[in-house]
Amino acid sequence: MISAEKIPNNVNLSSNKRLQRALEHWQPKYIQWWRDMGPQGFQDYHQVYVRTAISVDPEGWAHFEYVKLPEYRWGIFLADPVHDRKIGFGDFFGQSVWQEVPGEFRNQLRRLIVTQGDTEPASVEQQRLLGQRCPSMYDLRNLFQVNVEEGRHLWAMVYLLHSYFGRDGRDEAEELLERQSGNRDKPRILEAFNEPIDNWLDFFMFTMFTDRDGKSQLMSLSESSLDPLSRTTRFMLTEEAHHMFVGETGIARILERTCQLMKQAGFSEDVRKVGGIDIPMIQKHLNQWFSLSLDLHGSEVSSNAASYFANGLKGRAKEDTFDEHIVRDTFYNMEFFEEGKPVTKEILMRNAMNEVLRDWYVGDCAAGVARWNRILEQHGMSDRLRLPDRKFHRGIGMYSGFHFDPNGVPLSKEQWEARKYDWLPSAADTEYLLSIMDKPVYEPGKFANYIAPPRRGINQQPIDFEYVRTEA
Ligand SMILES: [Fe+2]
Ligand SMILES: [Fe+2]
Repeated sequence: MISAEKIPNNVNLSSNKRLQRALEHWQPKYIQWWRDMGPQGFQDYHQVYVRTAISVDPEGWAHFEYVKLPEYRWGIFLADPVHDRKIGFGDFFGQSVWQEVPGEFRNQLRRLIVTQGDTEPASVEQQRLLGQRCPSMYDLRNLFQVNVEEGRHLWAMVYLLHSYFGRDGRDEAEELLERQSGNRDKPRILEAFNEPIDNWLDFFMFTMFTDRDGKSQLMSLSESSLDPLSRTTRFMLTEEAHHMFVGETGIARILERTCQLMKQAGFSEDVRKVGGIDIPMIQKHLNQWFSLSLDLHGSEVSSNAASYFANGLKGRAKEDTFDEHIVRDTFYNMEFFEEGKPVTKEILMRNAMNEVLRDWYVGDCAAGVARWNRILEQHGMSDRLRLPDRKFHRGIGMYSGFHFDPNGVPLSKEQWEARKYDWLPSAADTEYLLSIMDKPVYEPGKFANYIAPPRRGINQQPIDFEYVRTEA
């Protein structure tokens, strides 16, 4: 029997028989998926110091305890309702928000929820082997925290599917456990979620850039006229912030350590000789995950995005900061690439909504990169990290099928093939990374050679706290 004790929630689960029954059917499959596809080697004999959301207020949300991962209490939480909330954009601007799914938008909403939901278990699958190469017990805990929360995000989307989409919703919830990251026959829906993440540099870049795409998407969905979707995604955003913290500080600590090693080795020496991660390598991984995450925002010109906006399903990030919310006849100056040259054209703003969200995303990423560069600056380094041009290495949208260097200069296919590993990780780069991550560091307070310790521990615990305990 499913109870509030087993599944912490603020949706009054115990009085909702239909939802309870649907979840009782789904939960065992979820646990099986977690065991099969979740963190490998950390299911049965380890206890992890993680936070579990037990309510949406600050105290309930930061509840820390040791748990075995499969026994984590994945819960269902909606942010508090906003009294008398009105639709904030699109054709129904100013009307009351919806507590049920309008029939005419059912398919579109289901598609939005399934696409978001699919990314959550995908990232757990992508990261399942990382524990065996962890740079410290502190990082191992952070990895598992991210993983259990992505699991909870899946629960959040499944809650919506089960509650508002009937039979179809239940089928979709099953399929979310059947697709698999990187699987040839049943891959995850979006490409960045089919890429393997087998080393910690990729993991930190993923949580910096791809989880930040999660933030973009959740921010735009939290504007939705469908109030339960808005409230669900608003609470997810608070968790997402921790994922980006893990990514940003992870790279910051690698940079810190790289600078130390460079000083020790003498600046002209290759930092790889002393087991560090060189700055060009960090830049290549940044290029890789930033470009993949740009793709996640979809095509520059999109009639789907226009229709999501018009119908009030998906807004812009921080919709209330815009002057005008109906946006019927305003334009976006978009750069096109025609006959080898950039040309600016006016596009109806509604058709440019993916690009509008991408603009917000690029700005948010740029601020993070500027924070990283301060570390290099403080160490007196002349190197700087930078975001590649948004035309670089794109697989979706108008730049896909063409080649550009990180400055956005067009290249022929031959030029690209000859130089791509100057800008993206090569097999040799990955091999090097795996060689320095080859042995996990499980001793409390110890850190792999390529990464500096964090400034402070989790939940005011010391850095050498035993964040993951092994059972005898
Ligand atoms: Fe997530
Ligand atoms: Fe996330």
